[in-house]
Amino acid sequence: MMESFLAEKDGYVVAVVGATGAVGQTMLEILAERNFPVSELIPVASSRSAGSTVEFKGKEYVVQDLEKFDPAGCDIALFSAGGGTSKTHAPRFAEAGCYVVDNSSAWRMDESIALVVPEVNPHVLEMARENRIIANPNCSTIQLVVALKPLHDAVPIERVVVSTYQAVSGAGGKAVEELAKQTTQLLNGQSADINVLPARIAFNVIPQIDVFMDDGYTKEERKMMDETRKIMEADIAVTATTVRVPVFYGHSESVNVTFSGPMDADRARELLADAEGVCVVDDPKGEDYPMPSMAAGTDPVWVGRIRNDYSSFNSLHLWVVADNVRKGAALNAVQIAEILIRHA
Ligand code: A2P
Repeated sequence: MMESFLAEKDGYVVAVVGATGAVGQTMLEILAERNFPVSELIPVASSRSAGSTVEFKGKEYVVQDLEKFDPAGCDIALFSAGGGTSKTHAPRFAEAGCYVVDNSSAWRMDESIALVVPEVNPHVLEMARENRIIANPNCSTIQLVVALKPLHDAVPIERVVVSTYQAVSGAGGKAVEELAKQTTQLLNGQSADINVLPARIAFNVIPQIDVFMDDGYTKEERKMMDETRKIMEADIAVTATTVRVPVFYGHSESVNVTFSGPMDADRARELLADAEGVCVVDDPKGEDYPMPSMAAGTDPVWVGRIRNDYSSFNSLHLWVVADNVRKGAALNAVQIAEILIRHA
């Protein structure tokens, strides 16, 4: 049992930074749903939306301007307001004694920062006692490692090849609006306005998420490869192709896994059926498998299409689906906050 992080209290002062955004809004919903003990809720965003209100448990709260906000007295801050914002402001909150759970990529690969998925590596939270900043992994990485960990614990994984089918909500509320607007425009014979994503997303797929690096991979692909190895604490060879698809909520992943010893589909199905945070839906005869339409709005990581890869020894195919805004971001952050307030 871990020693407690925050002193036991009836309720905690919780700031949600980026409270007007797609992930921030879901953080508020999940804090309410899970009855997180909140004595004071402070929504924070940029000066653009400061003074507007957000709803939490049926009450309206006025949004504070991050630049002017004094974090003294905050116990926990859930940040989802972009990497630059986190780099500048998370240390300010941490120095004021507040634990920051940061959803951006700003701190994830920093060696001194814990990168946490509660079902996989909660023990690394120990690192956060001093620096008080905890990184929430990339949405695609979270659902991948939740599915891989129970298999890796049984037989160490050597290699993972993953291709993603990612929903537009992963790029924020404005990208959700863009898919809706472009769909309407095209169905009405108009041309599609492209403002947020790098190409038209309605009736299309885009093999680019985030920017390209010199080696031809995108940053999203690099994040998945690096973060998976850090969270799994293993020298696993990981390669990724990340693709945006015209789905509002729910990322899907085709995952090919090679193990260092014998593993087959039946055993993997059993291990995943018993795993924390995983739901197996895998019935080819009944044509039943996970899809974003069923995963959206739910908490688990859904796994199906589990089958032996006959082209390679000790290798399997998996199909992994989760709500990218919930388990991929807001829920994972709230689960981390729940560990921070846990008392024996
Ligand atoms: P704002 O509403 O003031 O723009 P999304 O990921 O859905 O695009 O949401 C991004 C969230 O991050 C919003 O709540 C947005 O607030 C917030 N945000 C973006 N930039 C900043 C910033 N510089 N300072 C504070 N909050 C920011």
